[in-house]
Amino acid sequence: MSSRNAREANLDDSQLVVVANRLPVDLEQLPDGTTRWKRSPGGLVTALEPVLRSNKGAWVGWPGVADVDVEPIVEDGLSMYPVRLSAQEIADYYEGFSNGTLWPLYHDVVVKPVYDRSWWNAYVKVNRRFAEETAKVARPNATVWIQDYQLQLVPKMLRMLRPDLTIGFFQHIPFPPIEIFMQLPWRAEIVEGLLGADLVGFHLPGGAQNFLYLANKLAGHTVTRGQIGVRSKFGEVNVGFRVVRVGAFPISIASSEIDELAKSKSVRARAKQIRAELGNPSRIMLGVDRLDYTKGINIRLLALSELFAEGRLDPADNVFVQLATPSRERVDHYMQMRDEIERNVGRINGDYGEVGRPVVHYIHRPIPRSELIAFFVAADVMLVTPVRDGMNLVAKEYVACRSDLGGALLLSEFTGAAMELRQSYLVNPHDLDGVKDTLIEALTQSKDEGRSRMRALRRQVLTHDVDKWAKAFLGALALPSEKS
Ligand code: ADP
Ligand code: G6P
Repeated sequence: MSSRNAREANLDDSQLVVVANRLPVDLEQLPDGTTRWKRSPGGLVTALEPVLRSNKGAWVGWPGVADVDVEPIVEDGLSMYPVRLSAQEIADYYEGFSNGTLWPLYHDVVVKPVYDRSWWNAYVKVNRRFAEETAKVARPNATVWIQDYQLQLVPKMLRMLRPDLTIGFFQHIPFPPIEIFMQLPWRAEIVEGLLGADLVGFHLPGGAQNFLYLANKLAGHTVTRGQIGVRSKFGEVNVGFRVVRVGAFPISIASSEIDELAKSKSVRARAKQIRAELGNPSRIMLGVDRLDYTKGINIRLLALSELFAEGRLDPADNVFVQLATPSRERVDHYMQMRDEIERNVGRINGDYGEVGRPVVHYIHRPIPRSELIAFFVAADVMLVTPVRDGMNLVAKEYVACRSDLGGALLLSEFTGAAMELRQSYLVNPHDLDGVKDTLIEALTQSKDEGRSRMRALRRQVLTHDVDKWAKAFLGALALPSEKS
C-alpha cells in the first residue's frame, strides 16, 4: 500500500470524520519482523470504505495489532488515525466486553453473554481514548460519524469534549428486543452514551423503536415522536436542550461497482474455470461468511448431509463451497464453533466424497475481492442462513453479481436483508426441514422463475446502494437539531 504521512500531507482538512473500532486496513506483522497493511474483515469496512474515499474523509480506528504506535497515514485521499490498544485492552475491551458480552447479547443471546466488571471498565477506558483521539483530529464544527457496538459511549464522551461537533452514530448489528437488552448491568450507561449523538441510526425500524422505548424507560427522557413509520421518518428524544433523532437506515453495498466487476471478461472466465475445477457439477452451492456462530454455517452443513443421506441430493453431482474468513479466534465460542464446523465438513466428505472429489470445499482464509466475485458468478444457489444478522451484505453482493439473472438466493428471515430482498427463497434457519425443502426448491427452480426473482432482487439492490445510504444518514444528520 502506498502511503504518506497524514500530517505531512495536511489532508486532515476533512469535515467528515468516521470513528470505528477498526481502521479499514489491518497492520500485519510478518514472521521476518516486517509489516504490511491488508484489508480489514467485515461488512462495516466493505460499506464505509468507498463512502469515505469519495468524501475524502478521515478515519479514526485501531490498526489491528497490540501495543504498536503507528503514525497517521493517508491513502487515496483518506486520512487514517490509528488508536493504540494494549494486549490487555484487546482482551478486555475487544474480545471481552465487545465480543463476549455485547455481540451475543445483541444477537438474541444465541450464546450466553458474560457480564464481567473488569471488561466493562476496559470498555469505558477505551471508549474514552477514542473520544479523546477524535477530539484532537476533528476540525471546528466538523461532522463525526461513530460506528457500531464497540463505541457506544463515544457520542456522549465526545460531546462533552467538543460541543461544537455534529455527532452521528450508526449501529451495524441488530439492536435487541427490550427484554434482552435489560439483562445488561450497564444498560443505562449505554443508552445515555448513545444519546450523546444528534442522530442515532439502526438498520431496521424495530431496532430504532426498541431504543426509543429504552431512552424513556432507562434514561427518563421524554420521547416526543415514538413511532417510526409512514407518517414520521424519525423518532425524537428530548435530552435537556437537545433533540436526538432516531431512525432506520438499511445499509448497502457499492452495487454498480460490483455489478461492473462481475460483468468483466476476466471474472466470467474465472467463474467458468472454478466450475471446471470443481468437476463441472450440475449445481454449485456457496457460503461466504466471517466464521461467526451467528452465521448459521452448521445449519447448512446439517441440511446438506441429511439431503445426501435421504437420497434427495446426489453427492456425485452437487458441491458446496464454504469460504470462511477467520474471525475473533481467541474468543471461546468462536474456537468451539470452528472445531464443530471442521468436524462436520470432514464427516460429510468422509461419508459422501470420493478421492479427488470432495462434496464440501472449505477455505478458511480471506479470498481476494475479484476471486470472491467469480465465486458469486459461478454459484447456482447462495446459502445465507444466519440465526441473526444486522443486515448481511453477502446476500446483496451475490445479487449485484448476477446481471445474467442466473442463480438463487436462499436467505434467512432473521437477517436485516430479508426485509428488502423479499423475492429470495426465505427460510427460518431453526426449521431444518423447512431449510431442506426450500433448498431443494431453489436448486430445482425453473429458469423463468429464477430470472423473475433475480430481476426483482437486482432492482432493489441496484437502486439502494451504499452511497444512497450514506447520503440518507448524513442528510438527516445535517437537518437543524434545535428544539422547535
Ligand atoms: P459481517 O459484517 O458480519 O462480517 P456481512 O455479510 O455484512 O457480515 O459482510 C461481510 C463482508 O466480508 C462482505 O463484504 C463479504 O464479501 C466479506 N467476506 C466474507 N467472507 C469472506 C471471505 N471468505 N473472503 C473475503 N471476503 C469475505
Ligand atoms: C461486523 C461488525 C464490525 C466488525 C466486523 C469484523 O461487521 O459489525 O464492527 O468490524 O464484523 O469483526 P472484527 O471483530 O474482526 O472487527
